[in-house]
Amino acid sequence: MAMERTLVLFKPDAVHRGLMGRILGRFEEKGLKVVGLKMRVFERALLEQHYAVHKERPFYANLVSYMGSGPVVALALEGKGAIEVVRKLMGKTNSAQAEPGTIRGDFGMSFSNNLVHGSDSPEAAAKELALFFGGAGELVEWTPADLAWVYSVKEELA
Ligand code: RTP
Ligand code: MG
Repeated sequence: MAMERTLVLFKPDAVHRGLMGRILGRFEEKGLKVVGLKMRVFERALLEQHYAVHKERPFYANLVSYMGSGPVVALALEGKGAIEVVRKLMGKTNSAQAEPGTIRGDFGMSFSNNLVHGSDSPEAAAKELALFFGGAGELVEWTPADLAWVYSVKEELA
């Protein structure tokens, strides 16, 4: 499993509902490393680009206006197989059907207002990280003090 980086967004419903800390905690507790973090009301053009793959879908217009309706937290996370790990922690798209123990399964009821976004492939992660953290110095290079306990040094960090 390769070391990967992925983009996570806390959607406006997560921020309004006061769930930022608890959701961030899920990712931190898992052992994922935060390498970027910002809060913005993102502009429409950026959100349209981010969700361009869904342009023809019936929910696209509502999705873009919902994502631009309030504050969003963008997070860049790093870890072994981070893209898939994050998707598993999030749970199914429809929160009502998401498994208990996942973020959507524990905190949500809605299909549309489903609290979090996570990149779904290495290609999407690269594109989305460039979009949200493309500026110089926006991603932080650091080594967590507990890295050698999160992973087996001999087997996974060699
Ligand atoms: P995301 O992109 O936000 O991580 O979510 P996802 O991969 O689980 O779901 P995706 O199919 O990519 O859909 C993007 C977002 O659009 C909204 N949606 N609403 N009401 C609906 O039928 C519907 N379908 C999708 C959700 O906010 C979903 O996360
Ligand atoms: Mg998606």
